[in-house]
Amino acid sequence: MRQECASLTLEQKGQKVVLYGWIQKKRNLGGMIFLDLRDRSGIVQLIVRPENSYYNLASSLKSESVVKVVGTVQERESKNERIASGEIEIEVEELILLNSAKDLPFEISEHTTALEDTRLKYRYLDIRRDEIKDKLITRHKIMMATRNFLSDHGFIEVETPILCLSTPEGARDYLVPSRINKGKFYALPQSPQIFKQLLMIGGMEKYFQIAKCFRDEDLRADRQPEFTQIDMEMSFVEEEDVMSITEQLIAHIFQEVKGISISLPLKRMKYVDAIGKYGSDKPDLRFDMPLEEITSIFKETEFSVFQNVLQKGGIINALVVKNQAANYSRKDIDKLTEFVKKYRATGLAWLKYQDNAFSGSIQKVVKEEELSALKEQLRLEDGDLILIVADQPSVVKTSLGELRRKLGHDLGLIQKGDYKLLWVVDFPSFEYSEQEGRYVACHHPFTSPKDEDVDKLKSDPGNCYSKAYDIVINGYEAGGGSIRIHQEEVQEKMFEALGFTKEEAQEKFGFFLEAFQYGTPPHGGLAIGLDRLTMLLTETDNIRDVIAFPKTASASDLMSNCPNVVDPKQLEELAISITKEEKEG
Ligand code: AMO
Repeated sequence: MRQECASLTLEQKGQKVVLYGWIQKKRNLGGMIFLDLRDRSGIVQLIVRPENSYYNLASSLKSESVVKVVGTVQERESKNERIASGEIEIEVEELILLNSAKDLPFEISEHTTALEDTRLKYRYLDIRRDEIKDKLITRHKIMMATRNFLSDHGFIEVETPILCLSTPEGARDYLVPSRINKGKFYALPQSPQIFKQLLMIGGMEKYFQIAKCFRDEDLRADRQPEFTQIDMEMSFVEEEDVMSITEQLIAHIFQEVKGISISLPLKRMKYVDAIGKYGSDKPDLRFDMPLEEITSIFKETEFSVFQNVLQKGGIINALVVKNQAANYSRKDIDKLTEFVKKYRATGLAWLKYQDNAFSGSIQKVVKEEELSALKEQLRLEDGDLILIVADQPSVVKTSLGELRRKLGHDLGLIQKGDYKLLWVVDFPSFEYSEQEGRYVACHHPFTSPKDEDVDKLKSDPGNCYSKAYDIVINGYEAGGGSIRIHQEEVQEKMFEALGFTKEEAQEKFGFFLEAFQYGTPPHGGLAIGLDRLTMLLTETDNIRDVIAFPKTASASDLMSNCPNVVDPKQLEELAISITKEEKEG
């Protein structure tokens, strides 16, 4: 019977074992050959002495060849504390080469210097490295913990279609042409949103699915075009019910996978407070440094830049960077200025408070009493650096929020292994899209407004809030969801507010709206980003590390070279022709 390399200890001393695996390393010491044999569990050392009939085979083995070994477990003379089987080694009695390996494009090691593109091209080799393998195992544990927990709590896993009608999640769809219905297209689901609501109308009451989702959007470090959600929906619930079961699920996962106990209930923060205090709807609470509201200090200012901003309805906020005045040169601050400009801020004013005196870019142009008001309100201490943005509210919040995040990382304010979880609640129902010149849904058009806001949907959309919630972990949006609209009149008002005519709504979601007329339970749900949760639990900030076969930032797979051109015959069958420019491009 085969045994796992890393499972062997002194307890098996003297036992005969059968092992299979890859040759990780070979050393010749004093005529003896030592081989590191690796399987998924880890590594064990093999020893082949010169008198062994397999000696020649052992000395000719190349790294990453696959072998079968029969041998006896014996105590090692020099023990290796870094590996689980480090107290023993295997005296080889039989060695069979099952498959030899060519020279590898990169070494299978923790310290590989191979570029990510090379690792992605040979992803199956990259998966042999502990770094990737362990993350995939953690991902598996998260999925198992999820399935067990939700099943134990009465949730039923139901699969929903991959070829479907486009769903209104807000990103661009991936389209699939239909051969049988020429000129027509399926969309890959951006999420199972519509289906899970239909499952509630279908009486399933508690649904979940570990669901693949597809979104054709610009990629970032925490986004993939194809990703996975832990998707849930429940009937007869309010916000608190969904948040409660979700945080219990998350706490269960943290406990099962990492042995970390999360205390519940989680902190809740209103959207407006998150934006106000941290400049983000996904604040990283592992460090403090809040955005300070200092507009009122400059009400009567004579400093023309601040005056102009205030006249145009702008605001002024500051970050106090504790005890860093001496560490930031003018050049360093210039770099921070460039950074906030990426978020549309026109500039970054700064002050240093050292030896009871102010210096800095605005020290000469603001009044003495403004400086002393700053000192008092910001509770300044010797050595503090103050960074200020004056602009329109959204620019101030976003730019300082991003600067806060950057400084948290740059200054090492984040403790490794620390997890800070919270709910962000009471999102606005709408956000104004400059591009489209109208209000668009912050979540999706089926998100229920707060009861008190239903009648304002059309007249005052900017002041309507929704029954939506996001779970935020260490500055990442780990999941989000809402209570849905289940009454036709409210849904109609929502569509109206979003600028859809009845006919347009009917055309887009007719089948869905019809379903609501046959007895719809009140319902709500949420989806957790499985990839992001795995990133958090494996402490990587690269989403590709937690996906077996990920796509690059340009949405391609370097291993199989996809996407790619297809046989013209296939296009012909689909009645699709590629324009000349596309072909040349
Ligand atoms: P939402 O769009 O907020 O909600 O998605 C839920 C969670 O999925 C993750 N996520 C992503 N992860 C990786 N790559 C992406 N491109 C990507 N986009 C989203 C995030 C996010 O919080 N149907 C609703 C849920 C609901 O209302 O029940 C939905 O999809 O972690």
